[in-house]
Amino acid sequence: MKPAVTYEHIKTCKQSGARLGKVHTPHGTFETPVFMPVGTLATVKTLSPEELKEMDAGIILSNTYHLWLRPGHDIIKEAGGLHKFMNWDRAILTDSGGFQVFSLSDLRKITEEGVHFRNHMSGEKLFLSPEGAMEIQNALGSDIMMAFDECPPYPASFEYMKSSVERTSRWAERCLAAHKRPEDQALFGIVQGGEYEDLRKQSAQDLVSLDFPGYAIGGLSVGEPKDVMNRVLDFTTPWLPADKPRYLMGVGSPDSLIDGAIRGIDMFDCVLPTRIARNGTCMTSEGRLVVRNAKYARDFRPLDENCSCHVCQTYSRAYIRHLVKANETFGFRLTSYHNLHFLANLMKQVRQAIMDDRLLDFKEEFFEQYGFNKE
Ligand code: GUN
Ligand code: ZN
Repeated sequence: MKPAVTYEHIKTCKQSGARLGKVHTPHGTFETPVFMPVGTLATVKTLSPEELKEMDAGIILSNTYHLWLRPGHDIIKEAGGLHKFMNWDRAILTDSGGFQVFSLSDLRKITEEGVHFRNHMSGEKLFLSPEGAMEIQNALGSDIMMAFDECPPYPASFEYMKSSVERTSRWAERCLAAHKRPEDQALFGIVQGGEYEDLRKQSAQDLVSLDFPGYAIGGLSVGEPKDVMNRVLDFTTPWLPADKPRYLMGVGSPDSLIDGAIRGIDMFDCVLPTRIARNGTCMTSEGRLVVRNAKYARDFRPLDENCSCHVCQTYSRAYIRHLVKANETFGFRLTSYHNLHFLANLMKQVRQAIMDDRLLDFKEEFFEQYGFNKE
């Protein structure tokens, strides 16, 4: 059976390992490398699907864990699936909950069967397993589902990481067995192994032998230095098949997006652009701009003079600063829109640079303007 999601390779950059490609899904095609906006609770916070389409988003991410707790996957299934429920007819990827039970809940206990933990809002006792994560994602109907994994903290000992990787591989096999809709939903495996080369290799080989239609690299952007992330990508991607998409989970700063693309990553997601937008921080071609700052009170220029987005064509720093300071919802909509547009445009430039075999030159030029060490 042909997988629900396939990768079409267009070309590899002659200056780096970067790949230009297309990912075909049951809800349309998007070009890669791509940044996926995060819509945890079936909404990319403050923005409408129409606005996401204005900035050419072809895929968004949502979360199994949150939608399971509210409104419940049964209600979303009854609505006809997540696409219908939220009025988004392009691609959706759902994370499995593997990461969220570790990052959001306390008192968790990991067993071979799954993870016992408490609801991060009510304190209620809950249990999530590979089978449970598949049942929920099958009900949501996302185009790309993620395997239920363990994302250990950084740093973790080699011994702990080894037993965790082995359990994540066993869980991956159980996910495949429990997945009921392979014809219209693709299940991606998640490579773990922390900073350990041997364990990344073992994890990648275990998963590749199970023949997933795509692979994620997890367990990064958990507090490790940037050079550790780059090194892990350098020794992990060679174990992944070239004809399947590669997704680096939880990464969204401009420098990491470019560094990941250089290392052959096709897909990224992160709450960063929308989260910082809600405290009034904007990504611009000249680095981060904290629009709350008093120095913008009478600054009638756009957030980013080099940005073509609707917000930058229409509103001033002074106006947005006023809204944000006054806690006006519209201000957070404007900063969220601009930040997502900024990253969409960055990825568009990355794709063009791959096309032109000059991604390393582009990186130099981008940081000349953005400023080094600004993240
Ligand atoms: N999001 C960011 N990192 C991870 C990870 O390691 N696993 C999962 N499931 N989601 C993530
Ligand atoms: Zn803008």
